[in-house]
Amino acid sequence: MDQLSLKGKTAVITGGARGLGFAFAEALAEAGAHIVILDIGTPKEGSLEGLAEQYAVKVKAFLVDVTSRQQVNDVVEEIERDFGSVDVNVNAAGVVTDEPFLTTSDKNLSSTFNVNFTGSFLVAQACANSMVRKWQTLGSPSPSTISPTGSIIFISSVSTHMPTIVQQTSCYIASKSAIRGLVKPLAMELAQYGIRVNSLSPGSTRTDMMRQVEQTFPDLLKQFNQESLFGRVAEPRELKPAVLFLATSAWTTGQDLVVDGGVSVFKHRGNY
Ligand SMILES: NC(=O)c1ccc[n+]([C@@H]2O[C@H](COP(=O)([O-])OP(=O)(O)OC[C@H]3O[C@@H](n4cnc5c(N)ncnc54)[C@H](O)[C@@H]3O)[C@@H](O)[C@H]2O)c1
Repeated sequence: MDQLSLKGKTAVITGGARGLGFAFAEALAEAGAHIVILDIGTPKEGSLEGLAEQYAVKVKAFLVDVTSRQQVNDVVEEIERDFGSVDVNVNAAGVVTDEPFLTTSDKNLSSTFNVNFTGSFLVAQACANSMVRKWQTLGSPSPSTISPTGSIIFISSVSTHMPTIVQQTSCYIASKSAIRGLVKPLAMELAQYGIRVNSLSPGSTRTDMMRQVEQTFPDLLKQFNQESLFGRVAEPRELKPAVLFLATSAWTTGQDLVVDGGVSVFKHRGNY
């Protein structure tokens, strides 16, 4: 169905070198989008070539720190020159540090907010400006006469709806709540340019980010498994349909989509 196709569109995905970001890149490539990954890390050898070959799309990765306005603006300009436009932007770059609130360090506070909130803000802002330029080249059509063309997707977390009892990540959860705080005002401001803005709140998903937290709390996975209605955490590929939905659903804007295997629908307590 055409409505589910992103053929010829360009998707800019931060944090796409691995984990959920890479799964999002796969989903959007499968739908036909050209893929641009912005990350401070390098994608697994051969992974980008694999995507390009399997889905016959253009794939490129840039080493970019999303907390640098200069780097972000420069790369979005380059993408516009190389790819023509930015149509979809997924902001998956993120960091988490487990620290009790009473002793949360300045380092954690600033790096968590810088990457998770400011980084998402800066990339979304640069991509939105690019989307507006494209809208202008189309003759500035009224959104009441056409389908919205741009989609910005922020990655929040189920923990902003229901924090787990086994982690102490107030700083992370606050940064992810701040991201959700952007969704409605941006949806309102950007609708006039045919741009939709939503967030996705995944539940616990088996990525390097979770493996890193597990090193501090070896029983974490056991607890996370119990918190989902299916007795396990998600694999990154299980979040792919959700990002595709937000990228293609022309009538969805200003929403947070929780995809958590039922974690947030019932009360649970840890075993320890
Ligand atoms: N894994 C989970 O259980 C889970 C649950 C809910 C939400 N999330 C969110 O999903 C997103 C992806 O998480 P993940 O589990 O795949 O994590 P991950 O650690 O596997 O991947 C995060 C990516 O972000 C990149 N990154 C970090 N700082 C950056 C910066 N300054 N500039 C550019 N890139 C940077 C890393 O290099 C890495 O490739 C994050 O925003 C995370 O908060 C994850």
